[in-house]
Order: sequence, then structure tokens, then C-alpha cells
Amino acid sequence: MATISKVRTPRPLARTARWAEPGSKSATLFARAQGVLPGGNSRTTVYMAPYPPYAAAGQGCWITDVEGDRRLDCLNNYTALIHGHAHPTIVEAATRRLALGASFPMPTPEEIDLAALLCERLPSAERVRFTNSGSEAVMIAVKGARAFTGRPKIAKFEGAYHGSYDYAEVSLASTPETWGSLAAPASTEYSRGTPPAVLHDVVVLPFNHAEHAVARIEREASHLAAVLVDPVPNRVGLVPARTEFLQALRDVTRAHGIVLIFDEVISFRVGYHGAQGALGVTPDMTTLGKIIGGGFPVGAVAGRADVMTVFDDCFKQAGVPGRVTGLGSLFRLHPVDRELSDYRSTRATPAESERLVRLVRRLMEHGVLMSITGLGCLSTPMGDAELEGLVETFAAVLEMERLA
Ligand SMILES: Cc1ncc(COP(=O)(O)O)c(C=O)c1O
Repeated sequence: MATISKVRTPRPLARTARWAEPGSKSATLFARAQGVLPGGNSRTTVYMAPYPPYAAAGQGCWITDVEGDRRLDCLNNYTALIHGHAHPTIVEAATRRLALGASFPMPTPEEIDLAALLCERLPSAERVRFTNSGSEAVMIAVKGARAFTGRPKIAKFEGAYHGSYDYAEVSLASTPETWGSLAAPASTEYSRGTPPAVLHDVVVLPFNHAEHAVARIEREASHLAAVLVDPVPNRVGLVPARTEFLQALRDVTRAHGIVLIFDEVISFRVGYHGAQGALGVTPDMTTLGKIIGGGFPVGAVAGRADVMTVFDDCFKQAGVPGRVTGLGSLFRLHPVDRELSDYRSTRATPAESERLVRLVRRLMEHGVLMSITGLGCLSTPMGDAELEGLVETFAAVLEMERLA
């Protein structure tokens, strides 16, 4: 991070334009960025022509750029930083956690605390599944709705943004030339090369037009897994959904067994119970992100317990070892006794999966952690003692398996 040369005290109408001067630190950084980032940036929304000021630090509601100019932050990393920058409580909690290790292939007590808080806050939430971003939350919610209903299509609203997922990007940037009728808006591509099947499987609806939206949902109902709606959609002008409009969506989706998903990645911040609390309509699933991460990347899908059961069996395909594959420090145990060369030969039968689950659990009970799918890897702090211990434990566990 570049150093801050001289911080200017903010005052009304203070001039903060040193970044735009020829030879500024930001100009130099942008020249360097162009050699390693496409267009000199890694997030198009933060780019401005001919180049943006570069951030050096944030404190509370102020951001200081690398030239030393401070600005009042009215963007808060696109709404994510509800407590501003470097809030002491968040810094203290994150620092404490970093010192204890921050990522594990095991569940943690904290995930239960956050899930419980979200269930308390959101009228629609009985179970929560976490993801790394809001985009992934939308992706997982759509996948879950498809699994729950057994139907392939989704409906979303013209112009609404739900992250960088092909299906959610349909008609994000429709124009008067391409958007078709209000009653049945056209499914338009956002990125060149979007597969036609994606456009075919997304039904586009007009926002805040209950009659048109309901009629179209009724026509498509037998193919629709989900209706995805942001109650306060930024790209639709940040015009809040009318309560009668959301209620009409609630009624028609309930009548046809379609999962109603509220995307509250941004709108959760409008009240303690999110936009659904403020507007008084309860969906089946809610996608979250931004503020629930306290400034760190995160996402979540929250929903009714029966809908969320589709996520219960992630580990169904596990099995028991008979062979080891891998290269270098990567290895994977397989519960099979056959040549392994491709997807079909490595795919475990239910009985083989059961054996692997048992084996991995026994390893877990005897001091060795690896993936329930049989994946393992070594790390540089492992010395002879650890590797010998691993081999001995593995042999002992295989013996238990043989005698079982
Ligand atoms: C309504 C909405 N949904 C989903 C997303 C995607 O979230 P993320 O950027 O964490 O992938 C955004 C991001 O701005 C959003 O505004």
C-alpha cells in the first residue's frame, strides 16, 4: 500500500483533486496497473476515466487516497460497510480470529452464531447456508429452488442486478431497442456469447407491474422453479417495490408451488428485519451478502426449513479407500478396487461411499483430518514424525476396517 504524504483536513467544498494532476501517485499506479490488470482494473465499477484515485486507508466514514486527500465515503464499498472503515470492534474481532487461524475444512462455532442471528432477524429464515459472495448466494438459491421444485426456469425482473451469474444477468442491460413489450419483456444477453439456453430458461418480468408479472408467471408456472426479486433494486432506479406488488408475487408463487426468492444482498440494511420486514411480505428464500460480512467477502442463503433441506446431503457421494490417486503433495483415497482413469471409473457406488465415510470418520477419531470425499494434502510444517504418525494411523484404521 502506498504511503500517505500529507492528509488534508476535510472542510466544506475542500478541493480534493490532486489525483487528477499529471504525475500524481494515482497516475503512476494506474500506468503500472495497465501492465497486469485488463484495462488497469480488477473491478469495473471502481474505474473512472481516465483513471481513478487510489485508496490508501479508511477510517470511520472517511477514505484517504494515496495523494493524502480525504473524502466523505458515501459509497461504503457498495453498501457493504455499514459501520464504515476499520471500526475498532470489527478490527479487534478480526485480529483475534486471524491469530487463531481463519479458514478451516471444519465447521466453526461462529457460523452457528451468525446463522442464529440471521434467523432471529429475518422473518423468512429458519435455516442458513453460507457462501463466499452475494453472487454465489443467488446461484445456490436458484439451484436449491430447482432441486426443490424439479423445474428448470426462473423468473427475474427487467434491469435488476443479482451478481455475476449468467442466469441472473439476463436483461440486466436491456435497451429500448431490445426490451420488447412491457407485458412480456424480452430475455436479452448481458455478455456476448451467453448461451441461448440461458436466455430460454429465464422469464423476464416488469418490475412494480403486478398485473403483467402475475399473468406471465401464471403462463409459465409449470416450468418455473423460482421468482427472484430484489425489493429495493439499485439498477431499477432504487425504486422500492410496492407492498401490493410483492404481495401479488407472494400469492401467485404460493398458488403454483414456485419458490419466491428475495435478493436482500443490499436491502437487508434497510431495517433490522430487512426489506421483507419493512414491506411486510415474507419470501421462501432470501439471499444475503455485503453487511453480514462486516467488511469481509461473504454471502448466505436463508430460507424455510423444508425448502432448505435440499442442501442437507452434500456428502452423499463419499466412500471407502482401496486405491490412492494424486500427484506430489495431493492425494485422494478411493473406496474401489479397479483401474482409475476417468470420472466414470472413480465414481463410487453407494456401498463404496459408505465405506469411505466410515474410514474418514475413523481417521478423524484418531487425530487425522481430511475431506469426507477422500481428498488430502500435505503441508510444509509436516516433518518425519507427523508423516510417520499419519502412515501408522492409516494402517491402524485400515486394520479396524478389515476386522469390522
Ligand atoms: C442485489 C444484489 N445481489 C447480488 C449481488 C452480488 O453480490 P457480490 O458482489 O457479493 O457477489 C449484488 C452486488 O452488488 C447486489 O447488489
